Amino acid sequence: MASPIVKWAGGKRQLLEELVARMPLEMNRYVEPFAGGAALYLAIADENRAAMRRRFNEARLSDMNEDLIVAYRTVASDVEAVIAELGGYRYEEELYYATRAVDPATLSPVQRTARLLFLNKTCFNGLWRVNAKGHFNVPFGRYTNPTICDDKALREAAPLLARASIEHRDFHEVVADLGAGDFVYFDPPYAPVSETADFTAYAKEGFGHGDHERLAHTFRALAERGVLCMLSNADTPLTRALYSDFAIESVEARRSVNSKSSARGKVSELIVTSWAPRS
Ligand SMILES: C[S@@+](CC[C@H](N)C(=O)[O-])C[C@H]1O[C@@H](n2cnc3c(N)ncnc32)[C@H](O)[C@@H]1O
Repeated sequence: MASPIVKWAGGKRQLLEELVARMPLEMNRYVEPFAGGAALYLAIADENRAAMRRRFNEARLSDMNEDLIVAYRTVASDVEAVIAELGGYRYEEELYYATRAVDPATLSPVQRTARLLFLNKTCFNGLWRVNAKGHFNVPFGRYTNPTICDDKALREAAPLLARASIEHRDFHEVVADLGAGDFVYFDPPYAPVSETADFTAYAKEGFGHGDHERLAHTFRALAERGVLCMLSNADTPLTRALYSDFAIESVEARRSVNSKSSARGKVSELIVTSWAPRS
């Protein structure tokens, strides 16, 4: 069964059932503007997951992380070349830092994809974090024999990614042309729960308070046009306030990204839908 090819902060694997249960069975366009690991898309587009399968005419995935977008496009178009390139990597600290130091813009799409997958599988905590210049800066991770090339996952995801249009754009631009019958799932970087739990460094632009307000504004405008909008985020006063006009439900999720391991564990996550009645 298809599942994410990268480990991503805020990955939605544990919330999948809750999200799918709320989705319409059919839609015109399926749009995921904060794709990250694209866990929801890979579940609902997979013909082998009968219970989660949803029908759509077109799919659109996008994210502000350019390396991720290049990787999705390249896996979609040339998964065997990516697998072959990954075969040249080994789990070694020296190779890790040498690979990390390479400027991805100087690489071919296949090399750039293999670099992202290798770093993602071998870095500390398996997360993608960039500094203010947009350079990946996570240290080497300690694992016992990590899987660098998960060829099964890559081959399963490839045809599903090939069915989607994949774009490197801000969320707002990606949804501008949507209308009634289209469905959008927004999974933005978390609104801060606390200073230590804040993790928004997926892309060099970050995602601040103003972006959360901009997103709520976009959500409302789309809902008014009849677009079916679903959003998940941390259960914080900010999220509750921004979406107070819509149906909000609280569900339990496990959080894996936190610098303090004591702060990991179960947290409440909110799911907002634009079509359900407010309860
Ligand atoms: C919480 S993650 C999505 C997790 C995803 N649902 C999953 O299953 O892995 C948020 C994503 O939003 C992206 N992002 C940050 N700012 C953005 C923006 N302005 N527009 C679009 N994507 C953005 C980040 O690069 C990150 O991949």
